[in-house]
Amino acid sequence: MVDVLLGLQWGDEGKGKIVDFFAPAYDIIARFQGGPNAGHTLYVNGEKIVLHQIPSGIFHENTINLIGNGVVLDAVTLRKEYDKVAAFGVDGRKNLFVSERTHLILPTHRALDKASELSKGNEKIGSTLKGIGPAYMDKTGRNGLRVGDLLDKNFTTQYIKLRLKHQRLLDSFGFNEDISEWEEEFFEAIEFMRSLKIVNGEYFINEKIASGKKVLAEGAQGSMLDVDFGTFPFVTSSNTISAGVCTGLGVAPQKIKDVIGVSKAYCTRVGSGPFPTELHDETGERLRKIGNEFGATTGRPRRCGWIDLVALNFACMVNGVTKIVMTKSDVLDAFEELSVCTSYGIDGKEEKTVPYQLSKVTIQPTYKKFNGWMTDTSRLKQHADLPQAMKTYIDFINQYLGVQVTHISNGPERDQLITV
Ligand code: GDP
Ligand code: IMO
Ligand code: MG
Repeated sequence: MVDVLLGLQWGDEGKGKIVDFFAPAYDIIARFQGGPNAGHTLYVNGEKIVLHQIPSGIFHENTINLIGNGVVLDAVTLRKEYDKVAAFGVDGRKNLFVSERTHLILPTHRALDKASELSKGNEKIGSTLKGIGPAYMDKTGRNGLRVGDLLDKNFTTQYIKLRLKHQRLLDSFGFNEDISEWEEEFFEAIEFMRSLKIVNGEYFINEKIASGKKVLAEGAQGSMLDVDFGTFPFVTSSNTISAGVCTGLGVAPQKIKDVIGVSKAYCTRVGSGPFPTELHDETGERLRKIGNEFGATTGRPRRCGWIDLVALNFACMVNGVTKIVMTKSDVLDAFEELSVCTSYGIDGKEEKTVPYQLSKVTIQPTYKKFNGWMTDTSRLKQHADLPQAMKTYIDFINQYLGVQVTHISNGPERDQLITV
């Protein structure tokens, strides 16, 4: 049986914390897409750690962590992260498994990401510059190198062949930065990777499922960054929605049970692209400050705004969301009045659907206003103790989406999670 946990907005919904919280109920935590563009923040014994490549179940001794075939993997980041978790007394070699079909991010992919973004000028995606787009392009273009290739004695030759191809592309961009240091690090990390547990991911996971083990598939990014269903072209290069679990791990759709969608009680976005409920005023500034909304991967300030139910409804639809975890509700504690976007005004008409080209239309969000609760909720443990104004706010969201908020996260720490 497989449950899925993924982001319903533009990423950074707090997935890492929630996976870490739910992990003891599962045998395996598996990443199925994305790469080191992800930044999943966890608090372990009160200490903060950000994971980019390793699944967020790594701090639980009896949990297997699988990097699935749908992921693009940066060996250098993985190696550094391995050392980071080791400092917490965790032996990554024990519980970490990598699919042999996982594509590798090469130093030239990072260079190509940078060159491509530079060439776009004002129209840049705002990529994390981790090489994600070029690595996925080489996968679908049938050129890329995979983790299984590391075990081949011709790996370096294969790399050099691909590098030559990339060099021609880089030349066409006029990119001439020296990447020899990246390459040095890369080959060191490749050596390290050879000591990890490289497995046939699809047999590995299906055998576990057949023997009754429970899997939680951990999404990266968010549904509105999905390459097909997000705000294209301002998206990432993978299928971030639940369907990505089937192709990203090799599990059949019938194996999937719950789809747990994570949403902030408001909304953020980092990088370029449309964001209908973005606040450019003091309120947006306050959300950023109180919510500490700065990218976990790049440190960039996150754009902030009110919760967008039109976009969330769309995300629930394409994912088949069965439960919602609402995070960062505590950030709203000090706001007198809250707004919830219930429709988009486009050309004088009220729409409740996400248009084809969100970036090409002018949207006037229609808001329903709610009273804030103006009380510190971050130490509350029981649903019954929540202020009535918060319950009203959440009830409205439940009704609008037709999916229940089953958990409310009221702080970054592991134990700050209320079951509804
Ligand atoms: P992810 O990419 O979805 O895992 O989310 P990030 O880790 O990038 O960003 C979420 C941020 O919010 C991190 O700094 C978390 O520590 C923090 N966080 C998670 N849940 C809560 C919450 O309920 N309340 C508050 N105040 N912070 C939270
Ligand atoms: P987590 O898993 C928020 C955004 C980037 C950029 C766009 C494309 O932490 O939620 P890419 O590097 O994929 O080419 O960037 O997607 N982006 C994220 N935003 N959270 C993430 O991951 C993101 N991963 C990518 O900012 O706008
Ligand atoms: Mg993040």
